[in-house]
Amino acid sequence: MLSLQSPRVLRLADAASVATAAITRIAARVSERPNCVLGLATGRTPLAVYDGLAQCVADGRLSFAGVETFNLDEYLDLPAGHPSSFRAYMAERFFRRVDIDPAKTHVPSGEGRPGDGDRYEAAIRSAGGIDLQMLGIGQNGHIGFNEPGTSFDSRTHVVTLTQATRDANTADFPNGERPPPRALTMGIATILEAREIILLATGTHKADALARAFGASPDTSCPAAALRFHPRVTVICDEEAAPKGSVLANHR
Ligand code: GLP
Repeated sequence: MLSLQSPRVLRLADAASVATAAITRIAARVSERPNCVLGLATGRTPLAVYDGLAQCVADGRLSFAGVETFNLDEYLDLPAGHPSSFRAYMAERFFRRVDIDPAKTHVPSGEGRPGDGDRYEAAIRSAGGIDLQMLGIGQNGHIGFNEPGTSFDSRTHVVTLTQATRDANTADFPNGERPPPRALTMGIATILEAREIILLATGTHKADALARAFGASPDTSCPAAALRFHPRVTVICDEEAAPKGSVLANHR
């Protein structure tokens, strides 16, 4: 029987401090265990984290040479090499800027072949599982691309994105293009198998999602609420995203 856990909370002044805290945690994990397995996220929130980690490598303070990475999700139905694919985002923002072995960087396939989800699960298992998973949160509470209503038992699967999520991500696409309607995402159970999770949230537009995730009893209407069943979650948020009157407001 799963029991509710209390997340550790780092409630910080601003988005820059959130990025610094995430960089510090990831760099510490990689330094302690140079061949660790990281779970990575896309979106706007982690951009400063990738900048900071790339800077650590440029300064000779950190190496990703032994690290293996698994991204949370990828759009389906985009032409190969599309600049708004998460593979392109990761290459540009992180992989090409550090000393990681490209063969150890995994992003779910966007090709939509039967069995892609199971193959991704198998690859995570054969790497020994994820040591540290970095997550963002959607305004509707999604983690990865697990939209509201997704079972907490879900594994890597194809999803139909909500209109709200496609609207939120339209700015990441070239002028006039809309995000595709489908994606392949790690499931919620897949995410919960990571040994440690950090959830980053910045800005007032994330406050409602955090309030629902860590407020009343968890249910599938807010996918991030599943994190309350994980024993080692750190929520790293800024003042704007920290919901007033919730559990996250009490851990300064
Ligand atoms: C996206 C991604 C998530 C991300 C979230 C928030 O759609 N699939 O992994 O965490 O939405 O994105 P942002 O950080 O841009 O607000």
